[in-house]
Amino acid sequence: IEKTYSMLKPDAVRNHHIGEIIARIERAGLTIERMVLEPVTPEQAAANYAEHEGKPFYDGLIAYITSGPVVKMVVSGEGAVKKMRTLMGPTNPAEAAPGTIRGDFGLIMDENVIHGSDSVASAEREINIFFGE
Ligand code: GTP
Ligand code: MG
Repeated sequence: IEKTYSMLKPDAVRNHHIGEIIARIERAGLTIERMVLEPVTPEQAAANYAEHEGKPFYDGLIAYITSGPVVKMVVSGEGAVKKMRTLMGPTNPAEAAPGTIRGDFGLIMDENVIHGSDSVASAEREINIFFGE
C-alpha cells in the first residue's frame, strides 16, 4: 500500500488546526500509520529542504519549520501521495481554493500549514528523514 510523509507545520499547531486537518485526511479514506508531535531538528530541516539551499527564501524556511512543534505523520492508502497533495492544495495559500487545507487554514507562502511528499520516491526519503533511526 502506498505511503506518504505529511507534516502539520508550526502555524497549523499554533493556530489549533490539528484536529480539523487530521479529520479531513481520515475522511478522505487515508490511514494515519505513525504520528508524533515534536520539533523538527536542524538536521531534519536541512535534509528535507536540501533542494532549496541557496535560494532567497531558504533561511526563512528553515527558521519557520523549526519555530515550534509540528505533527509528523506517515499516511497510507491507495494513491496516498497524490490524494494528500490534492487535499493540501497548491504551495501558495493565496492561490489555494476554498475546501483545500491550505486554502482554508493558510494565508501566505511562508506559512503554508502542511507538507506532503511530492512523489513516492520523495515519500520514502522523507519517511526515512523523519522516522528513520
Ligand atoms: P512542501 O510540502 O512544504 O514541500 O511544499 P511544496 O512541495 O508545495 O513546495 P516546494 O517543495 O517547492 O517548497 C517547499 C517550501 O518552500 C514551500 O512549502 C514554501 O513554504 C517554500 N517555498 C517554495 N517556493 C517558495 C518561494 O518562491 N517563496 C517563498 N517565500 N517560499 C517558497
Ligand atoms: Mg515539496
